[in-house]
Amino acid sequence: MKVCIVGASGKLGQYMVQHALDRGYEVVGVCREQSVEKLDRFKGRIAVIPGATDDREVVKRAVAGCDGVLTVLVPRGVHGYSTGTAQAVLDYADPGARLIFSCGWHISRDGQDVYSRKLKAIVNVFGPLARLARFADLDDQVEACRLIFASTTRWTVVRGSDLEEGESQGLPVWSRHVGDPILESNITRRVDFALFMVAAIENDELVQEAPAIVG
Ligand SMILES: NC(=O)c1ccc[n+]([C@@H]2O[C@H](COP(=O)([O-])OP(=O)(O)OC[C@H]3O[C@@H](n4cnc5c(N)ncnc54)[C@H](OP(=O)(O)O)[C@@H]3O)[C@@H](O)[C@H]2O)c1
Repeated sequence: MKVCIVGASGKLGQYMVQHALDRGYEVVGVCREQSVEKLDRFKGRIAVIPGATDDREVVKRAVAGCDGVLTVLVPRGVHGYSTGTAQAVLDYADPGARLIFSCGWHISRDGQDVYSRKLKAIVNVFGPLARLARFADLDDQVEACRLIFASTTRWTVVRGSDLEEGESQGLPVWSRHVGDPILESNITRRVDFALFMVAAIENDELVQEAPAIVG
């Protein structure tokens, strides 16, 4: 099994690299040039392709021949970073490859999610402020997920709750909708978010699903 991790140098990405190696997968990581050294501890065990994760040529090269592509959707900047990444992965991944994308609970596939007042306030206040400061564009992550939901590829969009660091507590549980009692805790260890992403590669039940998860 050969997998590509787009956004391998971030916190989630590094955990995914470790889980993929633990499973004996061959790993190709894509990360920004300035972040390559963050992957030093995996030197000799993974191939690294430096470049912006929304660079279509970089993504094309990295996903070639991969059975699975794990993509960190990053809503950074206001230049369509998430949509650029998602579209490149959808366009260039091998037909039949499993495509797993990360995002947050604020993404809704069918509008049936029930959000807490706190989450609504964060999205409604932080979203416009972050965009104003040209720091992040949550709407672009929403648009990226819309592209994925409309795709006929073998995608899964994993929607993470609030995250915390710490030892693994095992594979998170999931539901189709935020607001389901099973998701009440609203907290997931980041290492287990990564575990869910990597395990989804071999879980066909999750094809064309957008699981909201908690640890
Ligand atoms: N943080 C949360 O509480 C939370 C909650 C739910 C879901 N999520 C989702 O989890 C995923 C990972 O998020 P995370 O917060 O845990 O962070 P993370 O894993 O550290 O990932 C951040 C990513 O953003 C990249 N990045 C940072 N600055 C950038 C810039 N200026 N331009 C382009 N890329 C930049 C990083 O690349 P470098 O290594 O090159 O800097 C890294 O790949 C995301 O899909 C997010 O939507 C996060």
